[in-house]
Amino acid sequence: MNNKILLLSVIIGLFTGTGATAGPEEDRTAMLEYYTGRFPDVPLQEFANGLYAFDEIAREQWIEMEDFPPYEIAIEDGQALFEAPFANGKSYADCFDNGGIGIRQQYPYFDADLGEVVTLELAINQCRAANDEEPLPYLTGDLAAISAYMSYTSRGNTINVKVPQDNPSALAAYESGKQYYYTRRGQLNFACMSCHVQSAGLMLRADRLSTTLGHATHWPVYRAKWGEIGTLHKRISECNSQVFAKPLEPQSIEYRNLEYFLTYMSNGLELNGPASRR
Ligand code: HEC
Repeated sequence: MNNKILLLSVIIGLFTGTGATAGPEEDRTAMLEYYTGRFPDVPLQEFANGLYAFDEIAREQWIEMEDFPPYEIAIEDGQALFEAPFANGKSYADCFDNGGIGIRQQYPYFDADLGEVVTLELAINQCRAANDEEPLPYLTGDLAAISAYMSYTSRGNTINVKVPQDNPSALAAYESGKQYYYTRRGQLNFACMSCHVQSAGLMLRADRLSTTLGHATHWPVYRAKWGEIGTLHKRISECNSQVFAKPLEPQSIEYRNLEYFLTYMSNGLELNGPASRR
């Protein structure tokens, strides 16, 4: 067995529970070793740029797109929405640490009182509920714009998601997200892992497949295909649909747990959202 295949079998072993008992940190290290072994020329932070880290032609088009960042309007709209007071006179700034500026790296986190994973998007609607405002839809629109602004103020901050050792429920949430990532589903019977771990760097029709490492660094994203800015849960829904699996509700517990796992895998990378993708 060559080294790459050995590593892949180790990584799949870890994730399917056939290997030695692994905690989040062992999972992350195995993931990191696998990708850096597979893409030895790609500097670590480059994984935050998805497939553009290793597809040169697509990268050139992407750099051109970034000359006039298509998400800029969303950042401006998001800032205006973020700063506008609620009917009761309070605002988003009152709900978050540091007035909501530069804090995206704290999300998602496991809320011990709630007993659930809280993503930034969920926290935005929690803030609205606490101030008697209606929730915003999770996939696109105002909430995505607010999230884009909050990401923008967090650029360059290092992801540092924690799975508290002393809380078995937090570990269970992480494990459930990991299991989702490694479970095959849909008519095509593919897991997230089938495409983004096993086949990362290979072509799927017109797309080169990106790596799990870096998947959580840059949300929300302006996609040319969408013609607007959308959240991570919108992208995940699409990946479910691609294999003809039924997408779950955005911000469902399952998707939040998945985001918890996914973001943990990118610990140590810098946030670089919002971003553009084709
Ligand atoms: C059939 C293959 C396939 C499966 C299975 C799949 N994806 Fe994807 N995914 C893609 C393709 C194609 C793209 C667009 C090209 C790229 O960025 O990899 C993509 C893109 C993404 C992106 C955006 C990457 C970026 O740089 O912005 C994320 C995040 C993602 N997938 C997560 C998931 C998750 C989570 C699952 C499991 C629920 C999953 N994918 C399952 C094919 C797949």
